[in-house]
Amino acid sequence: MFLQHKNIVLGVTGGIAAYKSADLVRRLKDQGANIRVVMTTSAQAFITPLTLQAVSGNPVSDSLLDPQAEAAMGHIELAKWADLIVIAPATANTIAKLTAGMADDLLSTICLATSAPIAIAPAMNQQMWHAQATQDNMQVLSKRGVAVWGPGAGEQACGDIGLGRMLEPMQIMEHCLHYFNSINAADTLQGQQWLITAGPTREAIDPVRYISNHSSGKMGYAIAQAAQKAGADVTIISGPVNVATPKNCQRIDVQSALEMHQHALKLAKDVDVFIACAAVADYRVAAISEQKIKKSNDSMSLELIKNPDIVADVAALTAKPFTVGFAAETQDVEHYAKGKLQRKNLDMIAANNVATAGQGFNSDDNALTVFWLNGSKVLPLTNKTELAKQLVATINDRMQDDT
Ligand code: PMT
Repeated sequence: MFLQHKNIVLGVTGGIAAYKSADLVRRLKDQGANIRVVMTTSAQAFITPLTLQAVSGNPVSDSLLDPQAEAAMGHIELAKWADLIVIAPATANTIAKLTAGMADDLLSTICLATSAPIAIAPAMNQQMWHAQATQDNMQVLSKRGVAVWGPGAGEQACGDIGLGRMLEPMQIMEHCLHYFNSINAADTLQGQQWLITAGPTREAIDPVRYISNHSSGKMGYAIAQAAQKAGADVTIISGPVNVATPKNCQRIDVQSALEMHQHALKLAKDVDVFIACAAVADYRVAAISEQKIKKSNDSMSLELIKNPDIVADVAALTAKPFTVGFAAETQDVEHYAKGKLQRKNLDMIAANNVATAGQGFNSDDNALTVFWLNGSKVLPLTNKTELAKQLVATINDRMQDDT
């Protein structure tokens, strides 16, 4: 009963996935949540208010202009009552209304009138999801702090295949658990020191050239921000990125893997948690040319030598912090991630498939599967801010379990 005493307004809008709302309500109630369902008019073409009233145990609200309903629990009261508003399914139309700040029905009005966080589980045809207008709207909503859960990929009701399926009720329920866990974690990291590597490294070839990769630093910085907000003292050891330093975090700028290694090993023995999110170059140039290399032959070779493995060296410390690695894979994600977890002696590894479009390197979104000895957890596709909160809550849970 992890959602006991939590008040959730479930907004149901008009998509075929609305038929899954009854199951979602049941799963949230199984965890002890109080549910009030708000339906749009078009949602009622897919599932009846009576069904949702029966499973939620509360009257369903569907009109802004119903004096009887307003007298019972008016839209402002509902907006204040909510600890969280979840819109599932969230259609392209509802997403556009939220973005524009419209208040032409009960659900959009409640969303404007609430100070509670809002989460949406988009559900629409894959072409509608990829439409520039929808993607622009999603960016605006993400920037405003609206949590985006999904969508998932697969076969759609219309026969298309692609992104746009609403997440399964179980996954949405797990997002709710993560959300409330991360709120509860707000002060639980108080007094802890977290050290996080982020961004790429640059391995010099000569004074003007280097070897690097596509890491933007967004994932590592989002983790730093989430840990700081949860009360930790956070230091980021950062490769060259164009991301603003999160409020109240320390930042050490480095260029190469050797520099990152030196700072990490110096600081790691005094921290509680070390997270290696940086995309560290595995190799560096054996002999960096002091002068710019001149073009001459048709081909040239560079001798590369192996860089030290930062996260493995931290995990080998006698006073080892709780050590979390990342695995950026393009195939056999679970197999390679578990191999790294074991080989590098990590407490946990967060694996991402960096071959999937729209996630991983330099994207605003990501999806992770987190592995530890005898356990794992899927953190589905969402924006990196939200994902980082879930990862921090997962790390915190694991640390509690280990003590
Ligand atoms: O920065 P973004 O654009 O937001 O992208 C995020 C990300 C894709 C970079 C991030 O989610 C991610 O996957 N980071 C790890 C990238 C990586 O180098 O993975 P890897 O599988 O090659 O390395 C495994 C682990 O060893 C990582 O924790 C890495 O930091 C660490 N490592 C690797 C080499 C080395 N010499 N020292 C290390 O510590």
